[in-house]
Amino acid sequence: MFSLPLRDNAHLRPLELWHADEFAAHMDRAREHIRPWVGAGFVTADVDGARGTLRRYAERQAADGARLYGIWLDGTLVGGVMFTDFSTASGSCEVGCWLEPAAEGHGVVTEACQALLDWAFVTRGLHRAEWHCRADNERSAAVAERLGMTLEGVRREYWPYGGTRYDKQLWAVLAPEWRARRR
Ligand SMILES: CC(C)(COP(=O)(O)OP(=O)(O)OC[C@H]1O[C@@H](n2cnc3c(N)ncnc32)[C@H](O)[C@@H]1OP(=O)(O)O)[C@@H](O)C(=O)NCCC(=O)NCCS
Repeated sequence: MFSLPLRDNAHLRPLELWHADEFAAHMDRAREHIRPWVGAGFVTADVDGARGTLRRYAERQAADGARLYGIWLDGTLVGGVMFTDFSTASGSCEVGCWLEPAAEGHGVVTEACQALLDWAFVTRGLHRAEWHCRADNERSAAVAERLGMTLEGVRREYWPYGGTRYDKQLWAVLAPEWRARRR
């Protein structure tokens, strides 16, 4: 029902339980592309799995926590952005993202993350937003950089995947930095 235009052919909308079939169809196109880079629990196999993800986010949103938003490009769900964590108690949040391969390279994730960060900092008064990614995830780190985030550190061999442990980068931007950037 509610939709934020990112540009003429791209829209950001809450991704909710009633999208389960559409989300599962999208996951069929995205699964192998995102598997190495996102939490294992997010990479679901079927409609029941998709419904589980959407329900988990809905429950956390009801407690003013995590939130999930889809990106529709030319009317097709192609990916999304989320608050993987959101806490007014600590004044901080963590933002995440994913896309199916055909939707990469259009700038829609950077634009969608800007909308989330505006809401977190300006509307909700949070102080800090984090971005976590595998250290070899160059496209993800590039988004963090485009958002004006600072690379604060590396958790060494934190991320197990396929029998190897990868380093994880922690990026963040603070509210005054974001406001200065958006002026
Ligand atoms: C991470 C991921 C979402 C980044 O996707 P992306 O398309 O590179 O990011 P954006 O949507 O912000 O698009 C930026 C690209 O669009 C280009 N672009 C085109 N028009 C643009 C515009 N108007 N504004 C900004 N960028 C634009 C940019 O040049 C950039 O392309 P380049 O890297 O080839 O130079 C994607 O690679 C992905 O889903 N990876 C697998 C899952 C994953 O890693 N998730 C993150 C876990 S931490």
